[in-house]
Amino acid sequence: MTQLPAAQMQPAQGALKPSDSSKALYGGKSTRRITVRDITAAKERGEKWPMLTAYDAMTASVFDEAGIPVMLVGDSAGNCHLGYETTVPVTLDEMAVLSAAVVRGTQRALIVADLPFGSYQEGPVQALRSATRLVKEAGVGAVKLEGGERSHRQIELLVESGIPVMAHIGLTPQSVNAMGYRVQGRGEEAAAQLLRDAKSVQDAGAFAVVLELVPAELAAEVTRVLHIPTVGIGAGPETDAQVLVGTDMLGLTGGRVPKFVKKYADLRQVMGDAAKAFAEEVVGGTFPLEEHSVH
Ligand code: KIV
Repeated sequence: MTQLPAAQMQPAQGALKPSDSSKALYGGKSTRRITVRDITAAKERGEKWPMLTAYDAMTASVFDEAGIPVMLVGDSAGNCHLGYETTVPVTLDEMAVLSAAVVRGTQRALIVADLPFGSYQEGPVQALRSATRLVKEAGVGAVKLEGGERSHRQIELLVESGIPVMAHIGLTPQSVNAMGYRVQGRGEEAAAQLLRDAKSVQDAGAFAVVLELVPAELAAEVTRVLHIPTVGIGAGPETDAQVLVGTDMLGLTGGRVPKFVKKYADLRQVMGDAAKAFAEEVVGGTFPLEEHSVH
């Protein structure tokens, strides 16, 4: 990889210069679909950006209209959409269907699709076959896969083949059976490994890297050291971008959500109330009325 000048490797975080604001990923003027080149340019400008997961066309269209510039068809669809307990059972067929729906529901956002567990671990050729399906069949602009040094060769071949890759290190939910859901990168050796993983995916050509559930100070250091953007989830405020699972931040997820989730709405309550109001009107004979009937 060509090294960028030092000034570009450590961009100042914060507000955009006025001349740059029309190019902003969020709130900018452009209506064409966002590409990975726009993401790279945002890091050079020191611009922060939001990413949300989506698994269906309708939700994706709402997020797109709200200006969310990057949407992830995460394999969190496993537990947030498909009713599995973890992301492990999600298949490539399922990811292809969900990703195609999200692409159809959006006009501007860059759509990134997760390669599910078992679709890239065998090696670079399997990764290329799986990613090619998501790009050709579903029309996504990039794929995401988990793992740092261990996924280096897969990332390299995908990027050489023209498929942009977002990497994912720290807590990697596809490895839940081996690592559980624990904070990663705590302690000197673990922090050093996380840094090695981050540099490895950057050297392999990833255009961005998700840092999940790592100490805020370590995420800040990785963000300073890398010239590709970091996307934090449970990684503190200093990453270049932040991602949340859409159903979590909308308040749709039942039960407990992780500490790093902020609920911006309570859709579970809203939907439950609407369902009860409908049921009561049907039972009470007040729906449908004349205005809802045809003759
Ligand atoms: O699958 C997913 O939703 C993810 C995010 C948590 C980054 O990988």
